[in-house]
Amino acid sequence: MRPPLPDTTPIRPANDPAALDEAAAILRAGGCVAVPTETVYGLACDASNAEAVAGVYEAKGRPRFNPLIAHVRDLAHAERLVDLPETGRRLAEAFWPGPLTIVAPKRPDAPVSDLAAAGLDTLAVRAPASPAMAALIAAAGAPLAAPSANRSGAVSPTRAEHVAESLSGRIHLILDGGPCAVGVESTIVAVTGDPVRLLRPGGTPRAEIERVCGHALSFAAGASDRPEAPGQLTSHYAPRSAVRMNASAPEPDEAFLAFGEQRSVNAVRVMNLSPRGDLAEAAANLFSGLRALDGAAPCIAVAPIPDYGLGEAINDRLRRASARKD
Ligand code: TXA
Ligand code: MG
Repeated sequence: MRPPLPDTTPIRPANDPAALDEAAAILRAGGCVAVPTETVYGLACDASNAEAVAGVYEAKGRPRFNPLIAHVRDLAHAERLVDLPETGRRLAEAFWPGPLTIVAPKRPDAPVSDLAAAGLDTLAVRAPASPAMAALIAAAGAPLAAPSANRSGAVSPTRAEHVAESLSGRIHLILDGGPCAVGVESTIVAVTGDPVRLLRPGGTPRAEIERVCGHALSFAAGASDRPEAPGQLTSHYAPRSAVRMNASAPEPDEAFLAFGEQRSVNAVRVMNLSPRGDLAEAAANLFSGLRALDGAAPCIAVAPIPDYGLGEAINDRLRRASARKD
């Protein structure tokens, strides 16, 4: 039996050992805990416990066919879950702990419930660079399944307050580790065949991965809403306001998400992702910026963002946010 849900979910400091003990006990009992990672906040549960995983889907209101990432301590831990080809191992060695998720053939004896893997014979694994998450994986004694800690279809949370806004009363505990350093989700690559394929741009830039693979990654932006990565529905990152990309200037009735040095503009509300034009800073501010502008105007105009480095992930998220939801 899962622990009962509180009316209001408590928020505790992620660096408090007593809070980590409490979180680990909840996880071992089959509950779910929001945990900061370097990318976004994750909603963690014991990946081997199907009932716990069901609780995560329920809290998020997420379609059940969406497979979850199994968070592991390190490469050796990952190799108990998946069969990694040589390139997969090289990628893990180069980027873990960090914002790279690797999809590989699932081992038949992997301690991961079919519900977490959505019945697929592949599994996504990642070793996150977050002390709280690492401590919890060790304390739970199991890989932790953790989707982003938001209601299905909403933007990912990069602060504990974002998690509380959408999930308070629906999950057992929130650990507050302050704002996430990276701010966009992990890059997802599949090593299930040759060559390695990019399934989702994210916190590890494509060029760095290509350097380690020794070849270019294939990625068709339009193809990502077809179910190879079943969660990659085009309208996945959806604020309530419409989003207009590549706007050199906002209309007076729009909100404006700026990037780089800012001329004075006439808009309902303005946020700047990075006044100094730094893509890493912009990624870290992306989701909180969208949130701050969401609902302030019928449309959020977004300044052009360069499409290299972390800009590729930022533009991918913005395209999804701007996709019409019918
Ligand atoms: O940075 C991140 O990756 C965050 C933090 C919490 O680790 N997690 C995250 O999880 O973004 P989520 O569930 O919001 O997104 C994971 C994506 C989903 O779109 C899912 O479809 C895809 O990974 N995925 C999971 N397993 C897969 C598999 N076996 N094959 C292809 N895609 C998979
Ligand atoms: Mg998500």
